[in-house]
Amino acid sequence: MSRKVCIVTFGCQMNKLDSELVAEALVAAGHELVPGEAEADVVLFNTCSVRDNAEQRVLSRLMQFKPRKREEPGLLIGVMGCFAQRLGAKLFEEIPHLDIVCGTRRFPHIAEILEKAEAGPVLEVEEESLTAPGTLDAHGRSLHDGIQAYVSVMRGCNNFCTYCIVPYVRGREESRPVESVVEEVRSLAARGAKEVTLLGQNIDAYGKDINSSLAELLEAVHEIDSVKRFRYVTSHPRDITEELLKTINRLPRACKHLHMPAQSGSSRILKAMNRGYTREDYDRKLAMINEYAPGVLVTSDFIVGFPGETDEDFSMTVDLVEKAKFQSAYIFKYSPRPGTKAEQNMADDVAVDAKKERNQILLATQEKVSAERSRSLVGSRQEVLVEGLSKTDKSKMAGRTKSNLICVFDAPDNPESLVGELLELEIKRCTTLTLYGDIVDRIG
Ligand code: 5AD
Ligand code: SF4
Repeated sequence: MSRKVCIVTFGCQMNKLDSELVAEALVAAGHELVPGEAEADVVLFNTCSVRDNAEQRVLSRLMQFKPRKREEPGLLIGVMGCFAQRLGAKLFEEIPHLDIVCGTRRFPHIAEILEKAEAGPVLEVEEESLTAPGTLDAHGRSLHDGIQAYVSVMRGCNNFCTYCIVPYVRGREESRPVESVVEEVRSLAARGAKEVTLLGQNIDAYGKDINSSLAELLEAVHEIDSVKRFRYVTSHPRDITEELLKTINRLPRACKHLHMPAQSGSSRILKAMNRGYTREDYDRKLAMINEYAPGVLVTSDFIVGFPGETDEDFSMTVDLVEKAKFQSAYIFKYSPRPGTKAEQNMADDVAVDAKKERNQILLATQEKVSAERSRSLVGSRQEVLVEGLSKTDKSKMAGRTKSNLICVFDAPDNPESLVGELLELEIKRCTTLTLYGDIVDRIG
């Protein structure tokens, strides 16, 4: 039976990619994708468990379906991804009108799962390898803005940072073979991909299980020369090597950007987080980046209010933000995740108000740094890959620099012709995180 499916996605880029893969599999099986929940007869939520509020949002959206499900018993409602993996069968107890619970390693079977759900509730949360040939080599999905594609190069995480649910819900690290990634990038390139983002929870660990490395993978995909930009996220500070930095520096189409979350600036807290590095190690990594890959911009994530974080620990985080001069940083308030070491063994003892205050202080500190960094680029020339019309002002176009900064410029008469093109822009002014420039040259 052909269904009208709406997929609602929460969370990270990996989730966005998984939703695209699910969409592709469902279309291949004869279903139709619809943008709105109201017109759908299957609604699938692809969920995130990284913080409690992400789960609460999904639960409240699911509760809203209760009356509709009563009126429309044929409607199928499903939860996929991290929250589905974390709670499994318990989700059916919380949400009795739920039809599908599909974990993080079962989504390649989504068409089959949907068919089974016609006969009654389906629970699929078994762990399964996602690197077997053919499992994730999906080539038919649509490209973002017609030019960008995500490619998952590895799955899972082995790090067990004490606050993090990811290793529990996404399983152990597994790298896809280099050839299978290359083949997928090649077919995306043939369909017009100009920017490819290689994804992994801990991408610098790519290849450890298959005797390869991210440097080797980057070299291999870089051969595909119709792709103008290669991005790679997320980097773990401990696993960044001299070889990787030299490779990024040497390959002209590798982006000059590393998302390398520090999480804290205090060695004591980093130890309690089980991050595997000290503050001094992190500082050394930043120095290494400057030495082997000068010009690479670093962005970071921070957690404030981790158990036991004192004012002094927090001041070291502020100090790191001031000294490291990250281009930008995401800042999160610690949220205990059931089953993690921090939740089990450490009291969530930083008061809610203190977490809020630290969050605001760190945001304000980072904002100053970001503004300063952006200002330092006014007057420079930047290579910008054009993504399309600006989302807020249709007389403008937007793209990103090699180091991932958004850059806005006046749209010419035929804006479509520039999408996917590289331009040289002269930066004239900026706001905290956006550069504004004039076209100097068309690079191609
Ligand atoms: N509480 C708050 N933030 C968290 N993150 C991961 N787990 C938690 C948690 N329990 C943040 C980290 C990570 C980002 C994706 O989410 O900063 O880098
Ligand atoms: Fe979570 Fe740490 Fe793995 Fe990142 S590296 S996904 S924070 S356990």
